[in-house]
Amino acid sequence: MNETEATPKNIVLIGFMGCGKSTVGRELHQRLGYRLMDIDQIIEETMGKRITEIFREQGESAFRDFETMQLQEISKQTDTRHIISTGGGIVIRPENRALLRKLGYVVWLRAPENIIYERTSRNRDRPLLNAPDAREKISDLLAEREPWYRETAHLRVDTAGLESHELATGILESARYFFAHPA
Ligand code: S3P
Repeated sequence: MNETEATPKNIVLIGFMGCGKSTVGRELHQRLGYRLMDIDQIIEETMGKRITEIFREQGESAFRDFETMQLQEISKQTDTRHIISTGGGIVIRPENRALLRKLGYVVWLRAPENIIYERTSRNRDRPLLNAPDAREKISDLLAEREPWYRETAHLRVDTAGLESHELATGILESARYFFAHPA
């Protein structure tokens, strides 16, 4: 195993919709200068379509295939200095969970259900939440996914009450420790 494989430096952000992955990702990118890869954004750019359109025209399972493909592409890259921001459902597939762990230091951003509801109800670009009862949908999806986030993450961060720069500081300290003392 070469040094790059032994000590991946990527920081991977996972967590439910509305937990601040994109905002914290941008903050980490600015602080570290690592390239920011937002998987949802890459899918939209590659397909030339918004995620809502992909869901509507091709269905969720096609979107999940694009998600896995993008993750596989990132895993092939030799430069491992990336901040990787993911969509909330990336942990659904076991093969994605394994790939995420291999990619680097996996940080799970959490927020209370009411904050998630408040943030996600401000716009309609999340097809899974265009449900008759979005609050119930959030609650069901959270219950289903929490064990997968827990299983995949190296670090769990409760974001409530903290600014993105404070979250980034904590994540960077933990990541430095992790990469200095790989398990
Ligand atoms: C999804 C979350 C979204 C996006 C898609 C599906 C999910 O990303 O990938 O709408 O299944 O939770 P964000 O978590 O960035 O909103």
